[in-house]
Amino acid sequence: MILSVTSLKGGVGKSTIAQNLAVCFAHAGYKICIVDVDTNQSALRWSGLRDESLPAVPVVALNDDVGLAKNVKHLNEDHEIVIIDGTPSLSQVTSKIILLADLLIIPIQPSGLDVWATEKFLERYNNAVEQKEATIPAQFLINQNQSTNLSKEVHEILEQTDIPVFKSSIRSRIAYREAVIKGLGVFEYKDEKAKQEMADLFKEIQSIIRKLNKKK
Ligand SMILES: Nc1ncnc2c1ncn2[C@@H]1O[C@H](COP(=O)(O)OP(=O)(O)O)[C@@H](O)[C@H]1O
Ligand SMILES: [Mg+2]
Repeated sequence: MILSVTSLKGGVGKSTIAQNLAVCFAHAGYKICIVDVDTNQSALRWSGLRDESLPAVPVVALNDDVGLAKNVKHLNEDHEIVIIDGTPSLSQVTSKIILLADLLIIPIQPSGLDVWATEKFLERYNNAVEQKEATIPAQFLINQNQSTNLSKEVHEILEQTDIPVFKSSIRSRIAYREAVIKGLGVFEYKDEKAKQEMADLFKEIQSIIRKLNKKK
C-alpha cells in the first residue's frame, strides 16, 4: 500500500505528517518505509537521529524522476506500507507521486492562501486521474490548526472540491517541532494531546486502508 503525502506547497507539514504516521505504523507492527523525494532530505536526516531501540522506520531517498516508479513498486513488494514524503516542486515528480498513490494525503494549513493554492494541485490531480483512468483516493488533512472557526470556513471551501477532509486534524503544537529533532514521532513523545490526535488520524487511515484492501 502506497501512501503519498503531497502538496504543491512547501512548509505545509508533508515531512512532519509522513514521519509521524510512519512511527504509528511501526509501533502497530507494520513493516514500513518512507521514500523521501524532497531534495532537502529531511526525512532521511530525521531517521538518522532515531534511536536503535525504537521501532524501525527506514528511509530511502529517491529524488530523481527516473526510476522513481520502479523503485517505489519494488519497495511496496517488500513492505506493507510505503509512505512517500513529497516535494513541493512543480516537476513531473509530483505527478508521478500522485499516480503511484493508493491513498493521497494532502496536508493543508487552515488559511485562505493555502486553500487557493490547492487549485493548482487539483489540476495535477485531475490530470493524473485522467491518465490513470481510475480514481485515486485522496483526502485533505488540516495541519497546524489554531482556530476552530477558521478551520470551519476552510472545511466549507474544501467541501466544494470532490476530495474529502479527514475528520481528524492536527493542531499547531511545539511537540511536533521538538520530536523531529530527536528522531521521534509525537506518538513517542511527552505531549499526550499530540499523541492522541496522531493516534486518531492513524485509526482513521487504518480504516480507509481496510476498505481499500477489500476493494482490491
Ligand atoms: N502541527 C504542527 N505543529 C507545529 N509545527 C509544525 C506542525 N507541522 C509542521 N510543523 C513545522 O512546520 C515546518 C514545516 O513542516 P514540514 O513538515 O517540514 O513541511 P513540508 O515537508 O511540507 O515542507 C517545520 O518546522 C515543522 O516542524
Ligand atoms: Mg518536507
